[in-house]
Amino acid sequence: MDVEKLIEEYKIMPLVTLETSEMAEILGEALTECGLNIVEVTFRSDAAAGAIRILTEKFPNLLVGAGTVLTTGMVDQALEAGAKFILAPGFNREVVAYCQEKNVPVYPGCMTPTEIDMAYSMGLRTVKIFPFVPMGGLPVLKAVAAPYKMMKFVVTGGIKNENLAETLAYDKIISCGGSWLISGTKLKAGDKAGIVQDIKEAMKLVK
Ligand code: 3PG
Repeated sequence: MDVEKLIEEYKIMPLVTLETSEMAEILGEALTECGLNIVEVTFRSDAAAGAIRILTEKFPNLLVGAGTVLTTGMVDQALEAGAKFILAPGFNREVVAYCQEKNVPVYPGCMTPTEIDMAYSMGLRTVKIFPFVPMGGLPVLKAVAAPYKMMKFVVTGGIKNENLAETLAYDKIISCGGSWLISGTKLKAGDKAGIVQDIKEAMKLVK
């Protein structure tokens, strides 16, 4: 499976923190109904690994990444649960090396040229830029990226429907991720129809 090609094809990546198995099931149903078969499940709740397992077992077409992965132990938990790629808010050499050893795509968060350099020196050619909008958005990323012609970016932090099209228009950005795509309140309330409507609205902006 070419994980990066799929990330690039979907162009948007919902980021969710799941607290219950019910939330995972509603999410899986909504995403598959919309044909957006990709999601980042963060390790910001104790239910993360269990939720990843539900998603990967019940929705085999869904490409599930684990986010906020801060330790090699979390990498193990994520992979055992069926996650196919790893994201992190920052650059942790040990986590990156561990994923590389296991041949799992990893997208560490970078914000500065130094961090992009560190990723480049470890052989990565795509990194996550976080937090994209608070960091300065496109003007800053374009300036930082200028010397790194070989690098591509998954951006998260402050993306909304309003800035999605302009962000995706920058050819170095392969995907926009974030929490705006799936409302936590709607997930908790089991409002699948509302979630489907939100996903479809965002998908219309992508092309
Ligand atoms: C992340 O970890 O990538 C961010 O929390 C996403 O930021 P957002 O909530 O602004 O989308």
